[in-house]
Amino acid sequence: MTLDERIESLVAATGATGIEQELSHEGIIAMAPVLTSSVGSSAPPLVVLDTGRSAFFKRFCDQDKNICAQYRQEPFDVPLNEVAAWRLAYALGNPWRQLIPTAVMRKINNLGGALINDKHGRIDTAVFNDAGRQVMAAGFWDALVGNQDRNSRNYRYDSRSTRLGLIDHGFAFARPGDPINHSSFFFAARRQRHGAALSAAEQEVLEAFLATDDLHGLRNYLPADRAQALQRRAEEMLRTRCLPTVGAF
Ligand SMILES: Nc1ncnc2c1ncn2[C@@H]1O[C@H](COP(=O)(O)OP(=O)(O)O)[C@@H](O)[C@H]1O
Ligand SMILES: [Mg+2]
Repeated sequence: MTLDERIESLVAATGATGIEQELSHEGIIAMAPVLTSSVGSSAPPLVVLDTGRSAFFKRFCDQDKNICAQYRQEPFDVPLNEVAAWRLAYALGNPWRQLIPTAVMRKINNLGGALINDKHGRIDTAVFNDAGRQVMAAGFWDALVGNQDRNSRNYRYDSRSTRLGLIDHGFAFARPGDPINHSSFFFAARRQRHGAALSAAEQEVLEAFLATDDLHGLRNYLPADRAQALQRRAEEMLRTRCLPTVGAF
């Protein structure tokens, strides 16, 4: 699969939800750099759509070659990983669909990238006490997708709605041996509170995922070796009925 074919597959899969439609087609009112204390390394600009929805634009041109090399990722894969993560979450259904921001491929001012729905809330460790089930689902997610960088800033928690949002899947879908920050405290919290055993519902989700011809489309969105690694992780999780350490496979 070429990069263009992978982008085409992602675009073809997009459009089932209202938010996907909005992010894909609505006009842009404003776009500006984000100046916060945690802009992250690629500092995606904040975009406001005609509907008032805000989103972050992770552009191909903004990806830092050196940081990508440290994670053994190609810069052009970073925006695709964001959209592929959403497609996987959408296919898995809830609770993951609610945890991961909707993301679509988009061009703005002739620059391409991933337009990612704004997850409201802030970095707030109250999530660990308030939203145990979501933390548990987040730990499962990070292990399944091989998240290389769930650092302590890559989530948002809205304590009013008690909703957790997991952001930044630019460095995910690791292959065996790729560097992992071992920073997912969702994974750590889940292991500590609930042990490593997978629930019956999680096992069913993995079975359904592996029963598809194309891993819920992920074979068309990811490079072959990353899709293969994803499949292997899911197989190992099912075989052992346990949550492996992030990056173990
Ligand atoms: N979906 C999102 N919801 C809320 N904030 C976001 C979202 N995506 C990015 N941001 C903001 O932009 C910053 C950088 O984005 P991130 O995806 O973490 O990229 P990187 O760390 O590679 O620069 C985040 O720390 C956060 O402040
Ligand atoms: Mg980040």
